[in-house]
Amino acid sequence: MLKQNSLYLGDCIDLFEKIEDHSIDLIFLDPPYNLQLNKVLTRPNHSVVNGVNQDWDKFDNYASYDKFTFSYLIECKRVLKPDGGLWIIGSYHNIFRIGKILQDLNFWILNDVIWAKSNPLPNFRATRLTNAHETLIWCSKKPKSKYQFNYHTLKVANEDKQERSIWNFPICSGKERIKNKTNQTAHPTQKPLALMKKIILQSSIQGDLILEPFAGTASFCAEGKYLGRNYIGFEKDKDYFNLAEKRLKKIKSLKSNLLEVNEKDKPIQKIPFASLIDNGHLKPGTILYNNNKNYKATVLPDGSITYKNDRGSIHKIAAKVNKTSSFNGWDYWHYEDKKKNLISIDMIRKKMRG
Ligand SMILES: C[S@@+](CC[C@H](N)C(=O)[O-])C[C@H]1O[C@@H](n2cnc3c(N)ncnc32)[C@H](O)[C@@H]1O
Repeated sequence: MLKQNSLYLGDCIDLFEKIEDHSIDLIFLDPPYNLQLNKVLTRPNHSVVNGVNQDWDKFDNYASYDKFTFSYLIECKRVLKPDGGLWIIGSYHNIFRIGKILQDLNFWILNDVIWAKSNPLPNFRATRLTNAHETLIWCSKKPKSKYQFNYHTLKVANEDKQERSIWNFPICSGKERIKNKTNQTAHPTQKPLALMKKIILQSSIQGDLILEPFAGTASFCAEGKYLGRNYIGFEKDKDYFNLAEKRLKKIKSLKSNLLEVNEKDKPIQKIPFASLIDNGHLKPGTILYNNNKNYKATVLPDGSITYKNDRGSIHKIAAKVNKTSSFNGWDYWHYEDKKKNLISIDMIRKKMRG
């Protein structure tokens, strides 16, 4: 496994191989756009626009771009934890192709988000609309994944209104924009920290491990470090890598007490039924009842329960007596306390969560 809180120089496809299965909490991808810019773009005063015309953005055709996209997304699927989250950003040049491949790989799209740029580059030739946004896609691994969503955190930040899928931020500029030795913009697509912050605060908690496979100046790792997340980043260009390393070294993380997640967004601790027995809350042999005592089941030491000739989980047996395919056993079964009151087993689980 790669060391946490490190940036690696190299091709992400090779570096992915060094990451264990199901080990990453949150992935942010800002891949090549495949802009296909062949000509130099100039302003009306003939100055050159710092567009994306570097080799890393060049692909022979759509098929080779799609192949590349598939090769890193399948790795993302492998390394992401079952309940992890993935965000990917792009423009009209690439985001539709990426969306299709995400769905082909059975990622579950949760939202697409518009990053509306308050200060976009004008359309200098006046031949099209000014391109004033990029699109982000947010997905989980599967439809039933219990991905982290800090709903209340976002709502409070939005003055108690439910957060929407259009986010307004300026493009990265001023002091935040990293310059190279000749005082030119060092990276053409450096993303604003405010955008990174929103994604991190929405989709992770302190101590999570986040991954940025196309780091560039490592904006996601940088904000992640500041917000007390552990990070791994990949970048194949040596100059960008060096800049990013320097940037990350300078960042100090906020103190842990400032990074507590909103109480209502805290991930719910998983408590298997067997742990109620292991922790002495229920004894093997205890009788469980439904709320009007029509059905009785018996608790076994391994956390299964029996009803007549059937043996299974609290859910399976609840489904069986209700003649249905699935049932939430936590809501169905009760035990009798010393005063003969029926108490839901879910009450014990709630107490254990504290
Ligand atoms: C769109 S930029 C990311 C910019 C970054 N979000 C930032 O804020 O600076 C894409 C980056 O991916 C890098 N890259 C392209 N192909 C790569 C690959 N196969 N492995 C690792 N990095 C790659 C490029 O060098 C470029 O810096």
